[in-house]
Amino acid sequence: MPLSRASLLSRFLTTGHLAASLAFAHDPITTPLTWNREISRVFQHRCMNCHCPGGGAFSLTSFSDVRPWAVAVREAVGARSMPPWNAVKGFGEFRDENSLTQEEIGLITGWVNGGAPEGDPKDAAALPASRGPRNSEPAARALPVQRVTSLSAPATLIGVRIRSLPPDGETRLVLQQPGADLIPLIWIRGAARGAPTNYYFRTPVRTVRGARILSWTPASQSLPRLEILIRLAPSSSHGPFRGHSPVAE
Ligand code: HEC
Repeated sequence: MPLSRASLLSRFLTTGHLAASLAFAHDPITTPLTWNREISRVFQHRCMNCHCPGGGAFSLTSFSDVRPWAVAVREAVGARSMPPWNAVKGFGEFRDENSLTQEEIGLITGWVNGGAPEGDPKDAAALPASRGPRNSEPAARALPVQRVTSLSAPATLIGVRIRSLPPDGETRLVLQQPGADLIPLIWIRGAARGAPTNYYFRTPVRTVRGARILSWTPASQSLPRLEILIRLAPSSSHGPFRGHSPVAE
């Protein structure tokens, strides 16, 4: 039996973002939140450094860019898959950590559920000049992370670089120093598409002689390729690492 036009249409309408935006076109506006007032500001702060022309992901800088993506945006922020970030919150602290607050997720969700209105152009925020690539840091030495990475001389750990990680990969790094509690450095989980590769600690960590970085990866997984980023101490006459390598396994 041939499909009726209505059922073809409804099949078409259930196949993704287009469906969402078409369906929305008829939805009543039931929220006081608007793109021009609250939502564009959240996007500026959290999304536009990547989602802008030349920024690595499709543009989400204007109402007309964002509107067709409204439902996908709600889903992505609700699942915390956007902004992409591969470090588990609360295990280590990072500069440039870009995850949304619960309040911001609530604003975006409320706005989409309420019909995603544009609002008054008078409320529009001025777009900032592009901030350019973030997450860059001047010269650092990168040490490959092993299961146990011993630092043979005091150093300053400034961050972690992910070289490669399986899609559902997981690894925890902690710092063990003589006579001190373990310090969580980073818990990497999931290789989110578009996520940064460099994670800089909010506060660089100074190590003492005998420090070791321990890594835990589930036994079922191969060790991901990670590097610990270290700043060389400018004042040390010998440099922090004598010999050809600062790392002794
Ligand atoms: C660190 C860069 C970065 C940031 C910040 C970022 N995104 Fe993304 N986003 C990406 C990349 C890369 C893609 C994949 C783009 C592609 O496939 O063309 C993507 C894809 C998406 C998609 C498509 C569906 C999906 O999940 O793949 C949506 C929706 C989205 N982003 C929304 C957002 C929102 C909303 C924000 C801010 C709250 C945000 N993104 C912040 C990089 C980023």
